[in-house]
Amino acid sequence: MALLNILQFPDPRLKIVAESVKAFDAALVNLVNNMFETLYEAHGVGLAASQVNVHQRIIVIDVSHNQKQPLCLVNPEILQKHGTVTEEEGCLSFPSVYAKVQRAKEVEIIYFDQFGKQHELTAKGLLGICIQHEIDHLNGITFFDHLSQLKQQLLQKKLDKYRKRAL
Ligand code: NI
Repeated sequence: MALLNILQFPDPRLKIVAESVKAFDAALVNLVNNMFETLYEAHGVGLAASQVNVHQRIIVIDVSHNQKQPLCLVNPEILQKHGTVTEEEGCLSFPSVYAKVQRAKEVEIIYFDQFGKQHELTAKGLLGICIQHEIDHLNGITFFDHLSQLKQQLLQKKLDKYRKRAL
């Protein structure tokens, strides 16, 4: 397995719309394994392939915080959305910044796992939010795009400060 480099905002490659996966092969399984390793190493709850510069519709999620619920979504589609919820979100492409984003409270999705088996899932809470955040990434959208311009400017300053410190 190998750790993958996570693109950092405002890398323009984060805006590329990902394409559907067509082949469920060993290369896909290998990529998904590397994405999980990268997710766990970064202590994240979700990672989209777009964030590691692979522009295919693949997401890895684990909301358990102890690596017990790995969930891989390939070619996910949202079938239904219900209600609204506003929670604080972060993103591995935006270290150190968090912001409240409005999402659907519950989503029903259909997806394939990395082995090509189709599943349906109804998700709410952190998992539901995470699924919506990661599907956004596949469409070239980040959580920043859901915020007002003023809020974006404030967070950009915070991000710049964090990066200066990290140098
Ligand atoms: Ni993200």
